[in-house]
Amino acid sequence: DKKAVVTIDGPSGAGKSTISRRLAARLDYTYLDTGAMYRAVGLHVRRRAVDAEDAEALEACLEELAIELLPAGDDDVLVLLNGEDVSGIVRSAEMGLVASQISAYPQVRRKLTELQRRLAATGGLVAEGRDMGTVVFPDALHKFYLDAAPEERARRRCEQLRQRGENPEPKEILEQIIKRDHDDASRALAPLRPADDAVIVDSSQMPLEAVVEFMLANIKGFA
Ligand code: C5P
Repeated sequence: DKKAVVTIDGPSGAGKSTISRRLAARLDYTYLDTGAMYRAVGLHVRRRAVDAEDAEALEACLEELAIELLPAGDDDVLVLLNGEDVSGIVRSAEMGLVASQISAYPQVRRKLTELQRRLAATGGLVAEGRDMGTVVFPDALHKFYLDAAPEERARRRCEQLRQRGENPEPKEILEQIIKRDHDDASRALAPLRPADDAVIVDSSQMPLEAVVEFMLANIKGFA
């Protein structure tokens, strides 16, 4: 079934991106990084210096926003904001916090939910985010919720940031992760939580490749 959607939700740093990419490659599906979309919106709103509390201004600012995600090479995705490659900028720790703030606004969620559903119409998708199984694709056949201990997630996030040339302070990253998860889980709209029918996977003690194999077996066993 080429139209199938696999959803992978969970807190930051649980390994969602790596796992979703690999799973998509194995299934020959498209990988959809919805966090990158929220990050791009955050960057756009910040650059325009719009007060997000001003509903009309936010709406106008969102109207002149086009986001594209383009596959690049084996394992990478380019994030285009109105045609500009912002892949590097949006993946910083700071833009994660900006994305989390902006993601609580209903106009932002409406716009991205629509875009995400449109992308699913074209074929098989592995969709990664916070509300993929609960809100955006409630009918998805395969839903996973990927979790890991906060300390392990902070460790992985630091590793990732170092690979990008940043010099993260581990304690600060752990605090940021805990704050962002708390904000994401306690917001009124599309809060971070597992869908009732999601398979919950804890990756704290599991190599990411083993998680991919587990998910594949689960998907195939179901099919
Ligand atoms: O996954 P990533 O860390 O890139 O997500 C950045 C932020 O975007 C999250 O902390 C969350 O607030 C928001 N987000 C969301 N819904 C999604 C994906 C991301 O609210 N589906």
